[in-house]
Amino acid sequence: MYIYIDTGNIDEIKKAAATGLINGVTTNPTLIAKEGKDFPTVIKSIVKILKDAGIRDDFTVSAEVNSTTAPEMIKEGLGYAKWDKHVIVKLPMTTEGLVAAQEFARRGIRTNVTLCFSPNQALLAAKANAFIISPFVGRIDDTGGDGMALIKEIKQIYANYGYKTKVLVASVRSPSHVREAALAGADIATIPYKVFEQLIGHPLTDKGLAQFAKDYADYKTKITGVKPTK
Ligand code: G3P
Repeated sequence: MYIYIDTGNIDEIKKAAATGLINGVTTNPTLIAKEGKDFPTVIKSIVKILKDAGIRDDFTVSAEVNSTTAPEMIKEGLGYAKWDKHVIVKLPMTTEGLVAAQEFARRGIRTNVTLCFSPNQALLAAKANAFIISPFVGRIDDTGGDGMALIKEIKQIYANYGYKTKVLVASVRSPSHVREAALAGADIATIPYKVFEQLIGHPLTDKGLAQFAKDYADYKTKITGVKPTK
């Protein structure tokens, strides 16, 4: 499963890219606004960071349109696509967004259809030749629904018809969401940096490492007769 970082924060992206474990970045207007920086500059900087870190060349950076009609979205997205081949156009799950998605597909430009909350929306995004569909699992769970059940249903529908659209699990809130996404066979999970850090750490790993360090120091003291200085 590919892991994307869901942030517009440059420091977080640098740290995540340095691990070599990520495959892309997603942003949205809320995340961009939080950083208070110029949008094109942020997207271009993200692409550069991923390239400089040697991330595999199939990485994508999603940049979301802010217009509401298909012609406006197409104009906006064509501008984004010129910035770099790794920039893909994020479109809303609306009729206009799906019309725009088809036009981008005809032009060979990849799209990410966002704010998906139902299997039928995902079916239509696949029919519109979206490159990625982004179901928001956390927001579904927040309202008492079952976000991961939606992922499983979308995977089933796409398998039934051989749709190539990638299922990206968005609105991830915890390591459990990542685990469940992987078990459900999601293509991508986009996760906040904090959750990415939580994937790596485990209290038993820390405990085990401390024990190994102590045992090795004791052993060295025993065979050399010299106590470590610190
Ligand atoms: O970027 C889309 C999505 O991941 C946002 O998540 O936490 O605002 O529901 P959240």
